[in-house]
Amino acid sequence: MTLEFTSDFASREAEITQLVTDSFTVADSAEEGAFVGQLVRDLMQGTPRDDVMMCAALDGNMVIGCVFFSRLRFEEDGRRVSVMAPVAVKTGQQNKGIGQEMILHGLEGLRKSGVDFVLTYGDPNYYIKTGFEQITADMAQPPLRLSMPFGWLGRPLSTKARWPLVGPSHCVAALNKPALW
Ligand SMILES: CC(C)(COP(=O)(O)OP(=O)(O)OC[C@H]1O[C@@H](n2cnc3c(N)ncnc32)[C@H](O)[C@@H]1OP(=O)(O)O)[C@@H](O)C(=O)NCCC(=O)NCCS
Repeated sequence: MTLEFTSDFASREAEITQLVTDSFTVADSAEEGAFVGQLVRDLMQGTPRDDVMMCAALDGNMVIGCVFFSRLRFEEDGRRVSVMAPVAVKTGQQNKGIGQEMILHGLEGLRKSGVDFVLTYGDPNYYIKTGFEQITADMAQPPLRLSMPFGWLGRPLSTKARWPLVGPSHCVAALNKPALW
């Protein structure tokens, strides 16, 4: 399958919310599906446009995966940082390489727009496949307390970007929920 990608979420909000809700419902529970569905709604509708980016994979005109990136501000570091969350591939289309190709496409878009680092919080075994490494709070302070610090991951987007990121960090309001971390 040849994938196309789009960064335009405005005309596809309902489709994207449904995909994410369904994907997390099947992978985890209906409660988790509803929670992450609300998270992407908040990212699309309640976040300043300059602070959020999305990459969706398309099969024809149908969205089959999406990944969101939102701004993380470090009080004492002027470099540009994004948090990648959530990532979802449509149920029935998983384990075909779509997630990895979509993440790499999204990272390239961020790099071109001048983002220096991307951080995420999840299963290292999966995200290592797209160049993330496990990091510590000394390398980049998480915005909220992590319940699973081994899931704190990061990736510089340019060869010039060097750890650490300096000072406390602040995520967008949509991600500012202890249950996510
Ligand atoms: C996680 C997810 C985005 C991966 O996308 P995908 O297109 O299915 O994955 P890919 O085809 O790119 O990669 C497949 C590989 O990743 C592994 N993998 C898939 N999901 C994984 C997970 N949740 N944890 C660890 N490894 C995972 C597969 O075992 C496979 O490994 P292999 O190549 O060594 O056999 C997708 O499965 C999904 O939407 N899951 C439900 C929602 C979710 O859990 N999102 C992540 C948390 S934000």
